[in-house]
Amino acid sequence: MDSFEWNKIFGGILAGLVAVLGVSIISDMMFARHLPEKPGYEVAGAEEAPAAGAAAAEAEKPAAFYLASADIAKGEAVFKKCAACHNVDPGGANGTGPALHGIVGRPIAAAAAFNYSDALKGMAGKPWDWDALWGWLKSPKAYAAGNKMSFAGISKPEDRAAVIAYLNSKSASPLPLPAAPAEEAPAAEVAPAEEAAEAAAPAAE
Ligand code: HEC
Repeated sequence: MDSFEWNKIFGGILAGLVAVLGVSIISDMMFARHLPEKPGYEVAGAEEAPAAGAAAAEAEKPAAFYLASADIAKGEAVFKKCAACHNVDPGGANGTGPALHGIVGRPIAAAAAFNYSDALKGMAGKPWDWDALWGWLKSPKAYAAGNKMSFAGISKPEDRAAVIAYLNSKSASPLPLPAAPAEEAPAAEVAPAEEAAEAAAPAAE
């Protein structure tokens, strides 16, 4: 074989290599590897931290759920938002808002000499029970359209419960906080005795 033949052979090999390399680069570009955002399998025990938004979007539980474990000290801090307009001490005077001492359980619109809006006057007679205060402090506007309390409401249920518990403590006779509502009963069809018997019996196959 003369050198011309060798040149042809090497040239051929080189051309082949270039072609293979080219194809692999192009196919890499065409089929870019995308890792799945979620693994296709769940790793037991490796629970994902819930996204911050997910917790907020979660439906709010009933008032009693939060009130049962409400933090009065936290409520005192939350009340700073209210203190500009409300006095909560015994014998406290009305300010921009009515005096709030003993408000939990007190009838709506009952502070002496306070000029309530028609919205609240229209509800007079009903008591400020837990649920009423819960609704009012979540959104005064939604609870009593046309009222004159310039306050948007407390969006965090924990803070709302805390301030209600604090208001309750500011009373000659604080009421017992409501008990936490029972959690949804887990599958109650199987009687405990049956369950125990099943557990005791060896799996008969
Ligand atoms: C900007 C002033 C202002 C702020 C802040 C404010 N309030 Fe009021 N509040 C009022 C006014 C005014 C009324 C009377 C509303 C009406 O007559 O429509 C009122 C009424 C109330 C009532 C009904 C009282 C009754 O005798 O029926 C409650 C309860 C209450 N406020 C609690 C709160 C709490 C708790 C906060 C803080 C989280 C708060 N308010 C913040 C001005 C305010």
